[in-house]
Amino acid sequence: MKVTISHIKADIGSLPGHTTVFEPVVDAVEDYIKSNGKNIISDYRISHIGDDIQITMVHNHGVDNPDVHGLAWNAFKAGTEVAKKYGLYGAGQDLLKDAFSGNVKGMGPGVAEMEITPRKSEPFIVYMMDKTEPGSFNYPIYKMFGDPFNTPGLVIDPNMHAGFKFEVWDIIEGKRIMLSLPEQTYDLLALIGSKGRYVIKRVYTKEEHTKLPAENVAVISTDKLSFIAGEYVGKDDPAAVVRIQSGLPAAGEALEPFANSYLVSGWMRGSFNGPLMPVGIKNSRMTRFDGPPRVAALGFVLKDGRLAGPVDMFDDIAFDYARTKALEMADYLRRMGVFEPHRLPDDDMEYTALPKILEKLSSKFEKLSDLNELKEVQ
Ligand code: F6R
Ligand code: MG
Ligand code: MG
Repeated sequence: MKVTISHIKADIGSLPGHTTVFEPVVDAVEDYIKSNGKNIISDYRISHIGDDIQITMVHNHGVDNPDVHGLAWNAFKAGTEVAKKYGLYGAGQDLLKDAFSGNVKGMGPGVAEMEITPRKSEPFIVYMMDKTEPGSFNYPIYKMFGDPFNTPGLVIDPNMHAGFKFEVWDIIEGKRIMLSLPEQTYDLLALIGSKGRYVIKRVYTKEEHTKLPAENVAVISTDKLSFIAGEYVGKDDPAAVVRIQSGLPAAGEALEPFANSYLVSGWMRGSFNGPLMPVGIKNSRMTRFDGPPRVAALGFVLKDGRLAGPVDMFDDIAFDYARTKALEMADYLRRMGVFEPHRLPDDDMEYTALPKILEKLSSKFEKLSDLNELKEVQ
């Protein structure tokens, strides 16, 4: 029988700024799921990173199910009541629509979900990022499922040798394309290097996969808040679910991309490049310059609708070096202040005072052609 893993997350208020979730709010979300989820889901776990509350659910209702999405929506509503009571910063900020319409997509929360045929043992990892955007998953997901220098299984495990299919979304024009690896590796990389526009949405096994039917093995949330609110209201702090082992990346291959702290867009005011730091949940407070951007990874095993875990995968000394490197990069970048490439290009910034400044200064600009200056630059 098919089983669905639904991971739904939202920022419904934090303290003191966009730093961290507040325990009574997390408890209110959990209490709601515990009391109302019995006939809808078979198991769940609540977690958090930075200012985002994260709900991992297991059930038999398939993706986009109104009862499952409604459960998460109402749990976030219940949490928002508590956030409002304490006057938390940004209380209810990701619940952008007033009424639930059957699906949380397009309403603010981020969703990563997939319906799968569970294996005898079904291990998977949930990744949660804060202070960054969905395209930040492009690099690690490609490494896991496409790069043999990261995942030697692609070369030495006969069950993986056929490669994988990648579903890529153009989030600006609202289009998608399927690309098959390894044959179309260069085409894929040509797109996903532009991580603010082309984002990996799903990865599938191929027909010729020796262990699994052609089905979804990785999914990333891509719910662009900018489109929902009609104006840019924030980078949307993505989450992902990745199945592992037995013909899929081993747990270690699925963690390996994060050993190299790479640069992502987000950080302070969603307007800066910064290093993505892998952390255990206990280190998931956003402090320095509201960051640096972080990723946590929770390892689970699913059996008969029940979850074992999570294991807090980056809560380990093996990632200390990546963290040290990230902090060195953060220090280096911070010295640049508001200069690119630390600060993002104008179009990618969440906040910009530039239009107002240009308006104020417009009458004071002098045309170079009216002066003799232009001759020198011609
Ligand atoms: C970035 C983020 C924070 C805020 C910053 C200013 O995604 O959430 O860096 O942008 O703390 O927040 P406001 O404008 O709400 O005071
Ligand atoms: Mg926030
Ligand atoms: Mg956040």
